[in-house]
Amino acid sequence: MTTIGFIGSGMIGSTLARLAVDAGHDVVLSNSRGPETLHELVMRLGPDARAATPAEAATAGDLVVVTIPIRAYRQVPAAPLQGKVVIDTLNYDPARQGRVPEIAAAGAQAHTLLQTHLTGSHVVKAFSNIFFTHLATLGRPAGASDRSALPIAGNDATAKQAVATLIDSLGYDAYDVGPLAESRRFAPGTPAQHAYLDPAGMFAAPGRPASADDLAKLLAAYGSS
Ligand SMILES: NC(=O)c1ccc[n+]([C@@H]2O[C@H](COP(=O)([O-])OP(=O)(O)OC[C@H]3O[C@@H](n4cnc5c(N)ncnc54)[C@H](OP(=O)(O)O)[C@@H]3O)[C@@H](O)[C@H]2O)c1
Repeated sequence: MTTIGFIGSGMIGSTLARLAVDAGHDVVLSNSRGPETLHELVMRLGPDARAATPAEAATAGDLVVVTIPIRAYRQVPAAPLQGKVVIDTLNYDPARQGRVPEIAAAGAQAHTLLQTHLTGSHVVKAFSNIFFTHLATLGRPAGASDRSALPIAGNDATAKQAVATLIDSLGYDAYDVGPLAESRRFAPGTPAQHAYLDPAGMFAAPGRPASADDLAKLLAAYGSS
């Protein structure tokens, strides 16, 4: 059993927390407004969940998920995350989120900004190319014919292994795309961002499974390193 800290408990954070609790992990949730505002979510998740401040969640987590709007990336507490594995779900999608001049200035590096802030942490990009409702529904037991693969990217092999183990426990295979910079291949606007979308129903549909082979084709369609 692993304790997973969450900095951000919105659509992706709360969905991942549900999957994690169901898989037998402990979760420590935080947001920008304070632990008291997470009371209902914690009640829904049950006794393996508690609310905390971002610094407390960062300290408590064996692994810590940062899942906040990218414009707030500098507010993530770096000191308690020193030496830790940090899962980065952040996307910069100006068409949907509005343009943030500072992030836009980072250009092609926008998807790796969290690592530039958390220089002492092992950042692994994951869960960034799946819509939260599909993340909730597409998990399957190991070996299932319709099990989906999720891309991960990071610079530290041990950290990626830890994230792959977590992903496996949540009902997905992990597909290693390479170093963190290669997460550009599943950033917004790439074919891999559409991996789990049902073409008929798009975001509203339950989603469609995508295997490692499916993912490899979509990643290749965007070019290799
Ligand atoms: N939604 C998706 O399906 C999806 C899929 C893949 C990737 N992503 C990416 O994942 C990230 C989270 O997306 P989301 O849809 O889950 O967002 P969301 O529903 O808007 O939730 C954002 C969460 O971050 C918290 N937060 C904001 N600023 C914070 C700060 N400075 N410190 C601590 N917590 C803070 C918010 O807390 P308060 O409410 O208290 O402010 C909220 O709990 C984004 O970068 C997004 O691009 C989203």
